[in-house]
Amino acid sequence: MAMQIVIFGPPGAGKGTQAKFLSEEFNVPHISTGDILRENVKKGTPLGMKAKSYMDRGELVPDALLYDLVKARLAEPDTKKGFLLDGYPRTIPQARALDEILDDLNRKLDAVVNIEVGTTALVRRLSGRRICRACGASYHVAFNPPRAQDVCDACGGELYQRADDREEAIKNRLAVYKKQTQPVLDYYKKKGILIDVDGDREIEEVRADVIHALKEQA
Ligand code: AP5
Repeated sequence: MAMQIVIFGPPGAGKGTQAKFLSEEFNVPHISTGDILRENVKKGTPLGMKAKSYMDRGELVPDALLYDLVKARLAEPDTKKGFLLDGYPRTIPQARALDEILDDLNRKLDAVVNIEVGTTALVRRLSGRRICRACGASYHVAFNPPRAQDVCDACGGELYQRADDREEAIKNRLAVYKKQTQPVLDYYKKKGILIDVDGDREIEEVRADVIHALKEQA
């Protein structure tokens, strides 16, 4: 069964955390536009240089810069068995662009999983998040701490705080989500493929719920 899924939700909802589980459960690649953009920033590519200032401020990178990136990634052979898109689409033009890209590939989305979390919890999650510089694994100082402080359990790399996880950028990201990204939910609700999940619970509980909902939908 090829699962073609979007994982959706505000910054800090746990999209990346849950995507890791789903990608293993359904054996599909996890495609995070945020991770791809950060990789481009790290390597100093032309795309990364254009995207960096938007990302650091917590603004969205212009739609046009995302289009070619997503189109090329979804045309790669590993997506034939399905995919899990994380962080795209996050505007109505991006949702329409995704339909167009999938139409051209003769594919369609099976489900959009929306992880719902309240603002106070989102701020707590984002401000306590730490990422491994070497392998990208994600932790939280209180909710999902590494065994040794600032050291990655998986590879021993150094943990750091993302520039956009500082207070000013967090506020901006949440405002941008409300204004530009939340309207996308209606777009998928009308298509009948939206699955809402309560993300304000333990990581394991959310995981079990999301997997159960997706298996029911399949
Ligand atoms: P992106 O990387 O997509 O960031 P985001 O959407 O802001 O989401 P996050 O990665 O911050 O959060 P998450 O939901 O994955 O939460 P996580 O699992 O880490 O985008 C970054 C930037 O790139 C954007 O601002 C934009 O500039 C640009 N960009 C990317 N895509 C774009 C697009 N399509 N168009 C335009 N621009 C784009 O969890 C957060 C923390 O909470 C972690 O510490 C985790 O351990 C903890 N946690 C998770 N679940 C739980 C739980 N149930 N209970 C307690 N703690 C939890």
